[in-house]
Amino acid sequence: KMETLQTTTGMKEWSRNHLRQGRTIGFVPTMGYLHEGHLSLMRRARTENDLLVASIFVNPTQFGQNEDLDSYPRSPESDAAKCADIGVDALFTPTPREMYGPDFQTYVDVERVSGPLCGASRPGHFRGVATVVTKLFNIVGATAAYFGQKDYQQLQVITTMVRDLNMDVRIVPCPTLRESDGLAMSSRNSYLSPEERKQAVCLYQALNAADALFGRGEGNPQAYLSIMRDRVEQEPSAQIDYIELVDPRTLENLDHVDRSGALAILAVRIGKTRLIDNMLLGGV
Ligand code: PAJ
Repeated sequence: KMETLQTTTGMKEWSRNHLRQGRTIGFVPTMGYLHEGHLSLMRRARTENDLLVASIFVNPTQFGQNEDLDSYPRSPESDAAKCADIGVDALFTPTPREMYGPDFQTYVDVERVSGPLCGASRPGHFRGVATVVTKLFNIVGATAAYFGQKDYQQLQVITTMVRDLNMDVRIVPCPTLRESDGLAMSSRNSYLSPEERKQAVCLYQALNAADALFGRGEGNPQAYLSIMRDRVEQEPSAQIDYIELVDPRTLENLDHVDRSGALAILAVRIGKTRLIDNMLLGGV
């Protein structure tokens, strides 16, 4: 039977009680509107731990002024049903006030790895992510936490933070789940009109074009950038936010591509909807 907890003290008592008995806790933090990508993380965490905790919290501090905090899709009842179905033991669903009291004033800033890509186009975003994930780790007392590679930079930010701040949690990266045409699953896909939905496949196809170049041994990053831009620009509703080829560890731009690997990563607006995706070239 799944327990649903809304307070930090309730969640802390639940997990401390189990940890004291020597149990391991797998944790999957989410913002809800759950899809198969989220559920794949939960299924994996389920098999690798004694207990499974999931959280649903649309975190206000990771949204910018003009972003979609108020319109972010929500479906609390069907989310809870999906969690119960998968075997979530405790579902943590705090309110914004529970997480951020009026006197809240402490933030976690992971410096270099938060700088480029989404960090540049969404100032303050990763500070909000690192802060809420720190709070969630402290509240849930997770042994292991599961994150999707779809949000590659977020995963690097969290991994760096856990290492730098000596946090007692193992970070488990999980592969990106895709729709049948290759579009990465995302709660934000629900914003797309049917016409935009068709155009949205250009992100995945651009990444595939880059991967094919890698297969042919191309060494010049510019060749990758132009083949990806060309594919995205075929779609009338697509507006490029960024398209880059970076070092998979530092996220710094590459000045040449070799067999040691590269990450192709992009953010594209389809109409008003901002989508992100990435691919490790050569499947490294
Ligand atoms: P959210 O976008 O709801 O994603 C929750 C988790 O699901 C993240 O680890 C994300 O990478 C993973 N995920 C999303 N789409 C996926 C897909 N198609 N395949 C595999 N995994 C996928 O990311 C957040 O929430 C928030 O920033 C959060 C970490 C909860 C902090 O607020």
